[in-house]
Amino acid sequence: MKIGLDNVIVTQTVLSEVDGAKGRLIIRGVCVEDLANTSTFEEVAIRLWQGFTQDTLETLTLALGNARLRAFELLPSFLDIASKLPFIEGLRLGLASLSDKEEMPHHYLLTGAIPVFLAGLIRSKKGLALIKPDPSLSQAADFLRMIHGARSDKALEQALDKYLITISDHGMNASTFTARCIASTGAGLISAVIGAISALKGPLHGGAPGPVLDMLDEIATEDQIEKWIKEELVSGKRLMGFGHRIYQVRDPRADVLKQVVLGLRKTGNKRLIFAEQVEKAILSALAKHKPDRPLHTNVEFYTALLLEAIGLERDLFTPLFAMGRVIGWIAHVFEQEKTGRLIRPQSEYIGPVPITQHATTMGLPS
Ligand code: ACO
Repeated sequence: MKIGLDNVIVTQTVLSEVDGAKGRLIIRGVCVEDLANTSTFEEVAIRLWQGFTQDTLETLTLALGNARLRAFELLPSFLDIASKLPFIEGLRLGLASLSDKEEMPHHYLLTGAIPVFLAGLIRSKKGLALIKPDPSLSQAADFLRMIHGARSDKALEQALDKYLITISDHGMNASTFTARCIASTGAGLISAVIGAISALKGPLHGGAPGPVLDMLDEIATEDQIEKWIKEELVSGKRLMGFGHRIYQVRDPRADVLKQVVLGLRKTGNKRLIFAEQVEKAILSALAKHKPDRPLHTNVEFYTALLLEAIGLERDLFTPLFAMGRVIGWIAHVFEQEKTGRLIRPQSEYIGPVPITQHATTMGLPS
């Protein structure tokens, strides 16, 4: 029995491979670094959904644009309650309001709904009027436009696009496994994605990037770094943005995002220089603290710096992760549904055994 299912293979997939020993992530045959440098988010969706859908870039862009418009019509039905909740809970509520009977194909609707619902929540929380989607734009460009009311700098749109690509799929992580379990029951794509978002919400999965910035703020100055790290580790706390169940060497997504941040911030940016000092000190402290457990920088560390540089609030970081990962969840649901097999593992019972014997346990016919 393996608590946490470490290294247990639960299915075969053509979607992605996380090679922890090599620090390599392959998404449908391409390394994540190459994918981020050569594709757009929409092209990655086509790649992930290949064999399950028939889209070209033109048809997908149109379908996602229409999905964003449909999602915008649905916003008023939940926005009042959702805007009083944290973003991730508001998003969960919005997606839960989608009906299985929605006519539009659910993979488009879910992918288009997330940026619209989030932009709506951001503006509603600030008491600002909602901005209708522009169906001709990419998901990243339209999302920033729906937040700010005007197109953002191209470099920011591209940085967000690269972020969404980098996190689009990642093997059998907790949220993907959740989505596949739900899909295996036949509950449908909308339920599977809501389940996945609920799993993503936890700080051990997708909830770390906000706390990464809290950590940098708390440490505040270079002379505090060593002392702060020591105190956290002595009190048994985990340092956010470090460690990964699979990666034994650096998380390749952290490298991709670091390059994007560098491009945005240019040389000499104080925040990035400070973050690099903290990263270096934490890696050295963790190596001494847990010499037998390789703990390296994970995707959340540079996600935090990237999203901060784009000007997005830290409460938005986990829902933004969902905006990118949704295309991976959808691909896994397609793949799972194709197997037609219910996921139903076993557990080992270690509780008390009742004294009373019933017919079946006595070996009599039931
Ligand atoms: N800081 C300090 N100690 C750590 C850290 C960390 N970031 N990560 C692991 N450890 C320690 C654990 O306390 C544990 O010590 P113990 O054996 O004395 O109990 C030991 O290293 C092994 O930890 P595990 O829990 O077995 O590691 P696991 O593989 O389950 O954890 C995880 C992976 C959850 C990501 C962990 O490293 C962690 O909590 N990191 C901080 C949160 C974080 O950054 N999450 C984002 C992950 S990336 C993503 O999901 C997109």
